[in-house]
Amino acid sequence: MNGFSKFFEKDKDERLNLVKQFTKLKPSELLFIKNQTSNIEFERANKMIENVIGTFSLPLGIATNFNINNKNYIIPMVIEEPSIIAASSKAAKIANVLGGFKARSNTQYSIGQVHIVDCDDTDNAIKQIMKNTNQILRLANSKTHTLSKIKKGAKKISCRKVTIDEDILLIVELLIDVGNAMGANITNNMCEVISPFLEKITGGKSIMKILSNYSTSRIITASAIFDKNKIGGEKIVNKIILAYKIAMNDEYRAVTHNKGIMNGIVSVSNATCQDTRAIEAAAHAFASRTGRYLPLTTWTKNDHGDLIGSIKLPLSVGTVGGIINIHPMAKICLKIIQTTSAKTLSCIIASVGLAQNFAALYALVTDGIQKGHMKLHAKNLAIAAGTKLENVDMVVSKMIQANDISIQKAIELKKYFGNTMRKK
Ligand code: MEV
Repeated sequence: MNGFSKFFEKDKDERLNLVKQFTKLKPSELLFIKNQTSNIEFERANKMIENVIGTFSLPLGIATNFNINNKNYIIPMVIEEPSIIAASSKAAKIANVLGGFKARSNTQYSIGQVHIVDCDDTDNAIKQIMKNTNQILRLANSKTHTLSKIKKGAKKISCRKVTIDEDILLIVELLIDVGNAMGANITNNMCEVISPFLEKITGGKSIMKILSNYSTSRIITASAIFDKNKIGGEKIVNKIILAYKIAMNDEYRAVTHNKGIMNGIVSVSNATCQDTRAIEAAAHAFASRTGRYLPLTTWTKNDHGDLIGSIKLPLSVGTVGGIINIHPMAKICLKIIQTTSAKTLSCIIASVGLAQNFAALYALVTDGIQKGHMKLHAKNLAIAAGTKLENVDMVVSKMIQANDISIQKAIELKKYFGNTMRKK
């Protein structure tokens, strides 16, 4: 990844130039990134959601150094919180020493549910559904020519009984291979189209037809080994493992541990216009699958004393369809990642989550989280205090020198710099 070292020290043009060299972005796409203050015009935004009055921007940055399944990546991240991109990039650099990230995904299947009540005989209803499996799948697949053409689409049906206030609810689940799409719309469509037939053969009434965001047929795992010599030796390795064990044994810590992971996951998901609410909901349900809320990562060490991290979670993401086709910056971000595969995108997102968790735990057990954070936080405080952008760096270094990183100090310094500038 030549040229990407000290990426943070380069100016905007130099950074964009490196992105251009690494990716296949067209000059027009680079200009689009460079010149936009908001990257969706009103008319486009007005078609995306209702009652639009404007657009709302967040910073887009690039995480560097990632090697995932033996391929180098630069990764776009959209986030308001400082330190996250720097932390991921640093973690990825350390992971590279012993081979980078290894990630894999199982299937890209979405789950659709039809909830049926008032069956006279639920067991017989299930028999009827199973007997008519082929017809139900055919019906579901009649909703998609695109998926059927590539031999994807609805693949399987299963039934579950749930007792609610002494009544039996029948849940019919459709397993759909959605290829490179996130697939919410097609899943909902399929559920709706099979519902009248399900009612006919079960004698029941369907209450809801909707996808489940608990995407357990889209599980991703990623792992990396962090050389003990690059992180301060086995003492630090042991501290990180202990930090993980604390999260294993205390839900209050586990939630914060997983929040750090989601910092990485949501940033990449934002940049590629994924449904981050679906991703969050599934991740936290998965973290609670044993009945207790647990960390999404595990940390152990190998015989050499190097740290081994791994992450496992459901991730429903897409590279085609939905908003990705509409949002120009999301399209460009996918080009920066250089993949059209939803599975590859999932592997990348999970690896960034793991990197982020490593960086947070490492900082927590060494210098503490505030040291790295405070410089960036000071920048935000200086801006919040109304400091002119050209004076921000000066105000930040004065705050650090005075060991007083607070809004009061930022206001005081802003006035000082304001005055000295005026005197000149
Ligand atoms: C802050 O956004 C995330 C951390 O709190 C995560 C963690 O504590 O593991 C640093």
